[in-house]
Amino acid sequence: MTILDGKKTSADIKSEIAERVKELKAKGKKTPHLAAVIVGNDGASKTYVGAKVKACELVGFESTLVELPEETTEAALLAKIEELNTNDAIDGYIVQLPLPKHIDEHKVLLAVDATKDVDGFHPTNVGRMALELPTFLPATPYGIMELLERYQVPTSGKNVVVIGRSHIVGRPMSILMSQRRAAGDATVTVAHSRTENLKELTLNADIVVVALGVAEFLTGDMVKEGVTIIDVGITRIKDDSKKNGFRLAGDVHFESVAPKAEFITPVPGGVGPMTIAMLLKNTLLAGEQKS
Ligand code: GUN
Repeated sequence: MTILDGKKTSADIKSEIAERVKELKAKGKKTPHLAAVIVGNDGASKTYVGAKVKACELVGFESTLVELPEETTEAALLAKIEELNTNDAIDGYIVQLPLPKHIDEHKVLLAVDATKDVDGFHPTNVGRMALELPTFLPATPYGIMELLERYQVPTSGKNVVVIGRSHIVGRPMSILMSQRRAAGDATVTVAHSRTENLKELTLNADIVVVALGVAEFLTGDMVKEGVTIIDVGITRIKDDSKKNGFRLAGDVHFESVAPKAEFITPVPGGVGPMTIAMLLKNTLLAGEQKS
């Protein structure tokens, strides 16, 4: 069994990016600059955005954190987005999701300038991804593809089951892994809450990507020997034995699944750190495209 070590791989990628930033600076070129917008006080979102900003510092990027109160109106957020679109200092930015219920997420994502959309969520960039045109790939799927590629996990002709059809993870994963590309050429099935024969599907899968957000959902009896497991879930579970009062659980029941797996991502330290590394990679690309 090989652990797909996202912590180490993301550190490698961040070092590569930091080297490139040094080169850019030495040549007198612009330092890449990422902005992150967060609306409201969701604890997990704040942690994620904080980690993204910290990662920028680590690789030598500039960063701007825009924190807006929960009661921010849709119009005020759209005005902020217009400001970021027209500010030449900002190479790329993200609007952290989820947004408060009174704000229309689609309207907001559509307002982001596609050339600064380093999350890859704008319909133009989703379309470009589907058509295999150069674009910003959404960071979590991009990170998973990078892990599979760097660990040379065989994917060509393999049966992949993606559990979850979210726009951020499940859907793009299913598109990317079926494409003619590195870590692609797979035969992909997308399973979701209405899927009737899930266990039959997962038992036949060479690779299972689990992204439904239910702690320890995938158990050892659902997979075959030699399977590759990508666990995208991260749920806080109350645990009084921990100093912070909780432990982090993935969507995979690691203890029963890992013994059967050829490759598996841990939680934490698997997919999560890769997401941030790939966001930085997209920001580097955004900066280089403009200079
Ligand atoms: N919320 C959960 N994942 C993401 C992400 O990758 N980007 C943004 N902007 N929000 C998220």
